[in-house]
Amino acid sequence: MRRTLVVGNWKMHGSRPANAELLAGVLAARPFLADVAVCVPFVYLNETAATLAGSEVRWGAQDVSQHAQGPHTGEISAAMLSEFGCRYAIVGHSERRAHHAESDDLVAAKAQAALSRGVTPIVCVGETLAERESGQTEAVVKRQLSAVIHTLAHCAAEMVVAYEPVWAIGTGRTASPEQAQAVHAVLRAQLQAATGRGDAMRILYGGSVKPDNAAMLFAQPDIDGGLIGGAALKAADFVAICRA
Ligand code: 13P
Repeated sequence: MRRTLVVGNWKMHGSRPANAELLAGVLAARPFLADVAVCVPFVYLNETAATLAGSEVRWGAQDVSQHAQGPHTGEISAAMLSEFGCRYAIVGHSERRAHHAESDDLVAAKAQAALSRGVTPIVCVGETLAERESGQTEAVVKRQLSAVIHTLAHCAAEMVVAYEPVWAIGTGRTASPEQAQAVHAVLRAQLQAATGRGDAMRILYGGSVKPDNAAMLFAQPDIDGGLIGGAALKAADFVAICRA
């Protein structure tokens, strides 16, 4: 039985007062039936950890370096994240693939770096609109996931996967539950074939998840929760999704 997981990806949003208000709203809404986490900008990890400590709400980062340490100005290592109690690190978000030229192999190396320090990578995969319209959706997400499976090898079952169609992110254009389910089923079959534990792994959907569409998406057999962008910035919306 897979427990639903709902993760807020704050992206580059927030301020100390806004974060305090948002987290207070989330904490006040406990308990949740789902597992709940927030992935915050690095500079807010310390305060987020202090605020959420002792609750069942987890926290994490939005990226991690593939390197363990060294001359990598501006980078943050998995060991640093684990010092701040991070449970999760998002890797391979499409915004990083597109704007920071992150390759499949780099994403895989980041996932491996996270796992080596006990931080669960949330590995994002997803096709662009052009790729969907030219019938390449399956090939693209399988290629992206395959790089990570290959690198993590026997540890691959430890990751969380997030299917985020690029055309649905921040656009208000959600994949239909059927479209999302179809891709999730492909990913689960791939995970099952590679690890033998695909049935126990969580595959999240991300891309314009809102309070009014979350329940339909999460009701699909292979959708185990969500990776939430815009709607994670308002406590009432995020809480509604965590309850969906
Ligand atoms: P939106 O929910 O704002 O579409 O963002 C989704 C996302 O990119 C989460 O990682």
